[in-house]
Amino acid sequence: MSATADTYRGALEAVDRIVNRERDAGEVLRRTVEVLHDRFERYSWVGIYLVEGGDLVLGPWKGPQATEHVRIPIGRGICGAAAASGLTEVVDDVNADDRYLACFLSTRSEIVVPVAFEGRVVGEIDIDSDVPTAFGPEDRAFLERVALLVSPHCLAAREKDGAKAGT
Ligand code: SME
Repeated sequence: MSATADTYRGALEAVDRIVNRERDAGEVLRRTVEVLHDRFERYSWVGIYLVEGGDLVLGPWKGPQATEHVRIPIGRGICGAAAASGLTEVVDDVNADDRYLACFLSTRSEIVVPVAFEGRVVGEIDIDSDVPTAFGPEDRAFLERVALLVSPHCLAAREKDGAKAGT
């Protein structure tokens, strides 16, 4: 079943609360992924990738299985295409898209929403659905608002990881 207007509104309010009350950037991203995964039946697997140099590195995710694609070069796959262009990718039938990097056999459609901060892509929200053509204009508009809300936290989580890696 598609989500109702109330579901989108409630989820956006939940993300807004997380962003305003939680101080730790990694925790903001983890809890946002949880809201998206738990409140939308069609969002089978939800993950946030963070830009690290020329790659996308998988951050928090929630779904039935782990993906092998934990690092994706920008430009590769649907994830890499969205990061390269800075534009949302909606794929109604993943098996008909040559760019698709398969993660799960059950996936039928996918949406990738870039997260930009001050005009630069710092991460992205990637959602796989087991339902074909699962993502409509409401999902796109909703997820683009979520991306805007979490953008400073994607930037902060990236910088924190970078600092950790450098020590
Ligand atoms: N399908 C993505 C790879 C990431 S997995 O869906 C988690 C792609 O084509 O870029």
